[in-house]
Amino acid sequence: MTKIAITGANSSVGVNLLRTIVRDTPFDVIAGIRSEKASVTLPTSPRIEPRIISYDNAASLASSLADADVVVHLAGILIETKHSKYINSNIDATTVAVAAAKNIGAKHFVLVSVVGADAQSENAYFASKGLAEVAVKQGGVPANIIRTPILLGGNTAGAQALVNAAKKTKANVLGGGNYTVRPLDVDDLSTAILHCFENMDGHSKQRPQVAVHELAGPESITYRRLIELVARMMGNEVAIRSVPIWLAKLAARLKGLLRSGGVTPTVIDVITADEIIAVNADIDLRLTLTPLETTVRKILEQR
Ligand SMILES: NC(=O)c1ccc[n+]([C@@H]2O[C@H](COP(=O)([O-])OP(=O)(O)OC[C@H]3O[C@@H](n4cnc5c(N)ncnc54)[C@H](OP(=O)(O)O)[C@@H]3O)[C@@H](O)[C@H]2O)c1
Repeated sequence: MTKIAITGANSSVGVNLLRTIVRDTPFDVIAGIRSEKASVTLPTSPRIEPRIISYDNAASLASSLADADVVVHLAGILIETKHSKYINSNIDATTVAVAAAKNIGAKHFVLVSVVGADAQSENAYFASKGLAEVAVKQGGVPANIIRTPILLGGNTAGAQALVNAAKKTKANVLGGGNYTVRPLDVDDLSTAILHCFENMDGHSKQRPQVAVHELAGPESITYRRLIELVARMMGNEVAIRSVPIWLAKLAARLKGLLRSGGVTPTVIDVITADEIIAVNADIDLRLTLTPLETTVRKILEQR
């Protein structure tokens, strides 16, 4: 029986994936978290074993994950904090996770990355995710890298921000929300991750294959229209006011003089970047994508 190890298991994606595994598969899971307190957010099941892990070095992470067959690496951040920077959270943690997966002889590795990831990007976040992808490509373990846009559903930050804006009478939105998003239902991402483990026994031993997928939702929509859609489905009418992006970045830069992390100009550039993909991976990953309105309905029902 396949045993799945999830790093960053307490992340919004991790919690959703754990629920999906328990509901839809017979697999056992190691839920890798960094602290005891993170365990309270995990679903409980006899098939979920929370384990405290650290990303200090590959050998210690490998000993924590030793009996896993496959590793799903979810640890990662968009908003930096005092201790979680892009370099340690996105790049180093991924390098250590894939080295640990190789060390334990894992059959497969999955990395959740982001649409726009590019090691050469001038944006520090997109660059860190691109470098994380490079670490996986060079890690010597067969892998799938799934680049995702904004994720909606469960407890995702995207869903929370959206509902918070949509329930107001007047919402202040970066650039008036005039940028394109392609929201992906987090349930679809969980299904896609599980589909990556099919046929893994057929991997070539000589040349580990690493596939990169861009997986987005079925509909492109401006963030402005998305807020209006959610508001309408809540029975609310929201007036959207535009916060100029240059002004938001200036304010973020000034705040950055007083504290480290938080919403920086880098984060603002990520949030307001158009989410555009060349080819959607729904067919490759054998998914039927959830319609956007269904995803929104689920979010509103879960509130
Ligand atoms: N949410 C989205 O819309 C979206 C879009 C594209 C890609 N992604 C990617 O999908 C993955 C999951 O996203 P999410 O939004 O579900 O995450 P999340 O809820 O914000 O959780 C972040 C996870 O990263 C861990 N983490 C933070 N700093 C770390 C560090 N220095 N070293 C190791 N782990 C650290 C956290 O552990 P602690 O709780 O212990 O701090 C937590 O498990 C991430 O890699 C994210 O970049 C998300």
